[in-house]
Amino acid sequence: MQIIGLRSGYGGKPVLQGIDLEVGKGEIVAVIGRNGVGKSTLMRALMGLLPATAGQILIADRDVTQVSPHKRARMGLGYIPQGRDVFPRMTVAENLAVGETLLKRGIDPDYKRIYQYFPVLKERATQRAGTLSGGQQQQLAIARVLVGRPDIILLDEPSEGIQPNIVQDIARNVRDLNRELGITVLFVEQNLDMITLLAQRCFVIDKGQIVASLSAEDLNDPETVRRHLAL
Ligand SMILES: Nc1ncnc2c1ncn2[C@@H]1O[C@H](COP(=O)(O)OP(=O)(O)OP(=O)(O)O)[C@@H](O)[C@H]1O
Ligand SMILES: [Mg+2]
Repeated sequence: MQIIGLRSGYGGKPVLQGIDLEVGKGEIVAVIGRNGVGKSTLMRALMGLLPATAGQILIADRDVTQVSPHKRARMGLGYIPQGRDVFPRMTVAENLAVGETLLKRGIDPDYKRIYQYFPVLKERATQRAGTLSGGQQQQLAIARVLVGRPDIILLDEPSEGIQPNIVQDIARNVRDLNRELGITVLFVEQNLDMITLLAQRCFVIDKGQIVASLSAEDLNDPETVRRHLAL
């Protein structure tokens, strides 16, 4: 995925001020930065939920800048919003079934595989999603997107509202999905543990612009990451 000079915002309010970044096939890349710098806005613009006012978004070398969110999803782009957005009054299984609407024609969901990654969702298939813990809801939100068999997932602050010891589990889940299914991951985070456990590479965003990029080596030093989070 390639993002070139992307600008977007809300009504008259510009937020993204020309974002350039590239995520290679099979990579796990983080976008980090303080509250309100435009991380979620970037995710929404990539998904097409906010129009780009300038710039380009390319997925597998195809320009999708004018493509609708639903079509982007059908092209293999999965999106897990901040706060997860599971349907609280629907059961776990019903939530997962919603993900089927994004399957490409003629392709079936692979629940067996999904339940291998997230066994708790099988155990709780008939339970209402609103009664799950924060970590379980995050797993459900990820699993719901997986039902549609995406090639790339956009994950917005997966650690938010999750107990610190569960952060490791979620990071492991996502790494497994990346390694075993080859899913490319672009995620947004402020949580130092999630960043250092999950990211292979990282961009720092401030005031709608990319202001630094951190290599795998930089990510080995929590102090470096902490400093960039505090920019
Ligand atoms: N729906 C909206 N309408 C108008 N302005 C918005 C809207 N959502 C966000 N903003 C503004 O856009 C800017 C960027 O917000 P954004 O949600 O992208 O930040 P963020 O980096 O994701 O922050 P956080 O870490 O708190 O989630 C902020 O100034 C915010 O107030
Ligand atoms: Mg956000």
